[in-house]
Amino acid sequence: MELWILLLLHFHLGNAPWIEGGEEAERLNLTILVPPSLPSPSNVLISSFNMEHTLSFLPGALTPSDAHFTVQILRSRKNLWRTVGVCAELKAGQTCNLTKALKDPYDDYKARVQAVALNRTSNWTVSGWFQPLTDTVLGPPAFSVSGCGNCLMLQLRAPTQTVLPKLQLQDLYGDVVFHVRRTRDDSQFRLHQPYKEEIVIPHLQPGVEYCVTVTVTSFTTTHTVSSKPQCAFTSPPPPRHSLYIISSLLGAFCAVAFILVGLVMYGSRLSFKLLKYCLPKSLLYVFFQGQHRSGALPDLSRCVSASQPHDRGSSGRLRNTSKGLDCR
Ligand SMILES: *[C@@H]1O[C@H](CO)[C@@H](O)[C@H](O)[C@H]1NC(C)=O
Ligand SMILES: *[C@@H]1O[C@H](CO)[C@@H](O)[C@H](O)[C@H]1NC(C)=O
Repeated sequence: MELWILLLLHFHLGNAPWIEGGEEAERLNLTILVPPSLPSPSNVLISSFNMEHTLSFLPGALTPSDAHFTVQILRSRKNLWRTVGVCAELKAGQTCNLTKALKDPYDDYKARVQAVALNRTSNWTVSGWFQPLTDTVLGPPAFSVSGCGNCLMLQLRAPTQTVLPKLQLQDLYGDVVFHVRRTRDDSQFRLHQPYKEEIVIPHLQPGVEYCVTVTVTSFTTTHTVSSKPQCAFTSPPPPRHSLYIISSLLGAFCAVAFILVGLVMYGSRLSFKLLKYCLPKSLLYVFFQGQHRSGALPDLSRCVSASQPHDRGSSGRLRNTSKGLDCR
């Protein structure tokens, strides 16, 4: 009860030094007499990516570890600082999600941060002006690339955030810019297209790899970032193992052809030998027939009849005839 009265007295009379009281009063007086003494936070910054706004800050040097931080925002239209409920007691190193607090994308905002420890506070540190639509950074839509012969097919997917009840993030896109680079020789070009979920990049070389990066343009903000490149072949390139198959098939064909040619040459040589062997005898036979008329040389006559085609024969015929030949 005594303490209660002292407290009341203290708050009514401020830090009047002539108040008499117990130890408690002296302690309270002491703390009230000390001015706001915490170091102010620094680097108070509102950053924004795809219309998600985040406040970050650094605690001032020598800020006690038990200090917490309070965030307030100011709308230029209302000119009134208002505490952000979810960011009233941040710890050092935490950030404040301002996405809901800065809900009018057409207004201008400021934020400020104050350190608080027990009943000591710091001065407020104020950020610069922030305009959601023009200060946000637009990232690229998510996308995948696949080949379609002499073209690339891109599937695009914009984030589904709503900026306003009837305004999606993709409504802020002007064009989607495709930067296409051929891996083989680094030749490249750009293509502007209105945002669509499916986009075809035509007139490319088939069986060749291209890498695509995607950026958006916007009529509200100039701050955009590109995607990482994604690469794809326009059509499947000839895989290594099929090259092996083709070359081994070619090798096998050559070997067969070589064997055939060898056989033909060997066969003709054989026939030629037979010819040489048979011909003198046939000449002899002619000779003998001329001389003796009745003289029978049956084995030689067989030779003659069989070797007759030799006079006009091709090598194939020679081979055929050599089969049925028996001159011994
Ligand atoms: C707080 O601000 C006042 C003036 O506005 C200044 O005199 C004082 O030094 C500041 N305190 C700290 C801790 O920065
Ligand atoms: C910030 O808040 C928005 C809206 O409540 C939410 O969609 C988003 O995921 C939050 N961002 C982070 C980083 O927590």
